[in-house]
Amino acid sequence: MSDGLESVVAAETVLSEVDGQAGRLVIRGRSLDDLAGRTSFEEVTHLLWDGFFDDLPHNLAAPLGRARAEVFAEVEALDATLQARGPIEAMRALTARLADGDELSVALRLTAAPAVFTAAVTRRQAGRPALPPDPALGHAADILRMTRGAAATPQEAAALDTYLVTVSDHGLNASTFAARVIASTRAGLTSAVLGGISALKGPLHGGAPGPVIEMLDDIGAPDNAEAWLRGALARGDRLMGFGHRVYRVRDPRADALKAAVRRLTEGSNTMPGRLAFAEAVEAAALSILRQHKPDRPLDTNVEFYTALLLEALAFPPPAFTCVFAMGRVSGWIAHAREQLAGGRLIRPQSRYIGPEPRRAA
Ligand code: CMC
Repeated sequence: MSDGLESVVAAETVLSEVDGQAGRLVIRGRSLDDLAGRTSFEEVTHLLWDGFFDDLPHNLAAPLGRARAEVFAEVEALDATLQARGPIEAMRALTARLADGDELSVALRLTAAPAVFTAAVTRRQAGRPALPPDPALGHAADILRMTRGAAATPQEAAALDTYLVTVSDHGLNASTFAARVIASTRAGLTSAVLGGISALKGPLHGGAPGPVIEMLDDIGAPDNAEAWLRGALARGDRLMGFGHRVYRVRDPRADALKAAVRRLTEGSNTMPGRLAFAEAVEAAALSILRQHKPDRPLDTNVEFYTALLLEALAFPPPAFTCVFAMGRVSGWIAHAREQLAGGRLIRPQSRYIGPEPRRAA
């Protein structure tokens, strides 16, 4: 048996390939370098969904805008109980109000849901009213407008598009596997996406970038990095934003996002200093991790520069995982449709290692 199913190939997919030795990500035949910074979220969603819906329109911008407007009606259900929860729990609860189904209209509403609900939840939690979507805007620009209450600059919208595209799909990661298992039972896309959100929430998967900001803030200055990082490892903590189940080299998404942070913050007064500080912490962490685990290559993963990019775009750190869901949702849906199209019920076996039943006297 493989612990954590590490070396088990549990699905065949045309959607993405993660090459952990070469540090390469391919999404439907296009390398991440070719997609990130050059493709919109709507375009990468089309790329992922192509062939999995008979009625897929060529351009998803307008239908996705309409879907944002449709799901906004559910924000009425955001009561005091949900508002008191973390953004991902509140967003998940509102998403659970959407009807299940396997049609394109359900897929579009589910893709709109993390964007619209996260913006509404974070604004309400800050004591401000939720803003309705503007269906005429691109998805990334509208997310920033709904979240912050002011129009995004083209550079900001491009930076968020780069992020959403970069995280849109990534092989059989934990949340995608969860989504595929649920889809294999024919429960419907809403059920599969809710399973994906639930798996993504954990700090070993999508919950790491908020803690990366806490780590940087706690370290405070480059000179404190080494002592802080050594102290964390001595306590048995993991360094957030480092290590990966598949990559044995640097996660290629880290560089795509670091380049996006650099493009976005060029010319700003404060952020270049923040980037240089993060680079110093990263260098210290990589050196200390090499000494800490000489036999296990632990390199920078996607979450480290995700944290810097989402901070530069002024998302509140507790909502970072929700922004991950805004991008990954198109991958979950593509995998769910692929599973439905060709896969059987996913039902592995377990080996019983408990006690034998006692014989009746
Ligand atoms: N800091 C310190 N030690 C680490 C780290 C880390 N970030 N990552 C792994 N290790 C150690 C771990 O403690 C273990 O040591 P030992 O054998 O002595 O118990 C050894 O390296 C192997 O770790 P593992 O838990 O077997 O590795 P895994 O493949 O199960 O874990 C991981 C992958 C991402 C969960 C892990 O590297 C980790 O916890 N990283 C920190 C959290 C993080 O950044 N998560 C985001 C992951 S990337 C987003 C995504 O695609 O999901």
